[in-house]
Amino acid sequence: MTDPKIIVAIDSINQDQALNIIDQLDPKLCMIKIGSINFNSLGTLCIHKACEKGFDIFLDLKLHDIPNTVKESILGLRHLPISMLTIHTSGGLDMMRAAVEGVEGTNIKIFGVTALTSLSDSDSERIFRRDIRTQVGSLLDLAEEGGIDGVVCSPHELELLSLRKSLLSVTPGIRLKNFNDDQKRVMTPREAIELGADYIVIGRPITSSENINKSLNEIYLSIQ
Ligand code: C5P
Repeated sequence: MTDPKIIVAIDSINQDQALNIIDQLDPKLCMIKIGSINFNSLGTLCIHKACEKGFDIFLDLKLHDIPNTVKESILGLRHLPISMLTIHTSGGLDMMRAAVEGVEGTNIKIFGVTALTSLSDSDSERIFRRDIRTQVGSLLDLAEEGGIDGVVCSPHELELLSLRKSLLSVTPGIRLKNFNDDQKRVMTPREAIELGADYIVIGRPITSSENINKSLNEIYLSIQ
C-alpha cells in the first residue's frame, strides 16, 4: 500500500475539466484535494468520482465559524469518502475541539490552516501586527492544545512545526521554478519534503501543465 505525499488540488468549476484532470492522475502517486472552488460549484460529484478511481481525498473547505456551526457543518460532511478536512486554527480552541468532536468515530483527520501561503511578512504585519513566524508559532501552540491532527502551513514554517511532534503537516505554496501568481511563501517539492513535510499540496504547476501525468510523475520522482 503506497502512501502518497503529493496532494493535487482540483481547482476547477468546470465538471468536464475537473474530471479530465482527475483521469490523468494516478492514485498510487497522489491524493486529490477538493476545495471551495470545486465543491461550491459541483458539490460532491468529484469527491465520489475520485473515490471510485481509488484516490484518497482531502476536503479543503477551510471552515471558519463559531464552534457549533463548525461542528454541525462537519456532521453534514462526515458521511463523504474523505480522509482529511480543513478548518482555520484562528477559529480558536473551542472551535478546534468542536471540529474534533464532529469527526469522532470516523477516520477523518482534521487539519488547521495557520497563515495562508499567499500572505507575505508585510501582509502579516498589516493584518496581525506581527510577523508570520510569530503568528504561525502561536497558532501551532493552539492547534496542539485543540487536539487536531495536523496543520496547513508554508514549508518555511516546517522548522517551527518540528518542535510540535504531535502535529502532521500539509504544505501548499509549492512551486517548481519561475512563477508569477498569488503564492508568496513558496518552496520546491523536494525542499519541502526534505524539511519534513508529511504532504505537499500542488495545484496549478500540475493541473495547468501541458502533460499533467508527466508533471505528476516528474514531481513524484523528484521527492523519492
Ligand atoms: O495552484 P496552487 O498550487 O497555488 O494551489 C494551492 C492550493 O492549496 C489551492 O487550492 C489553495 O486554496 C490551497 N491552499 C493554499 N494555502 C493555504 C491553504 C490552502 O494555497 N494556506
